[in-house]
Amino acid sequence: TERTLVLVKPDGVARGLTGQVLARIEAKGYRLADLRLLHAERAVLEEHYAEHRGKPFFEPLVQFMLSGPVVAAVVEGDRVIEGFRSLAGTTEPTTAAPGTIRGDLGRDWGQKVQQNIVHGSDSPESAEREIGIWFA
Ligand code: GTP
Ligand code: MG
Repeated sequence: TERTLVLVKPDGVARGLTGQVLARIEAKGYRLADLRLLHAERAVLEEHYAEHRGKPFFEPLVQFMLSGPVVAAVVEGDRVIEGFRSLAGTTEPTTAAPGTIRGDLGRDWGQKVQQNIVHGSDSPESAEREIGIWFA
């Protein structure tokens, strides 16, 4: 079995989409192993998004992630890292495939950062690193 870190970002929580996101995760057969609702701290976000430090969207991204509460979940299941990324859809919500979380529930809102509802770890190394950050 495998674990991944899923975040429902501030746009998803503010729009009342948390239940739908968690329902899709459970409907696909994955298990919620841990779950919390919190306001992220800047230090957590800078660590979480370390790979994007120095990019033009880094500061707007951190600001967006500080704009409201987020839901953090540890999700478990065989090949859950790939499986959740597939469920989430591609980064840009406007063009993410229908049937995915981002494709069905997201779109562009005229902001400097993609408000794309969810985050999912992209590798086993990222997953363990990110779970350590959010569930320290
Ligand atoms: P996550 O699951 O959130 O990590 O999304 P991702 O893996 O699809 O994207 P990535 O890790 O490359 O980027 C993290 C987040 O930064 C994205 O989810 C977007 O919110 C934002 N982002 C990424 N690339 C861009 C970009 O080129 N421009 C802008 N404005 N925002 C971006
Ligand atoms: Mg990413």
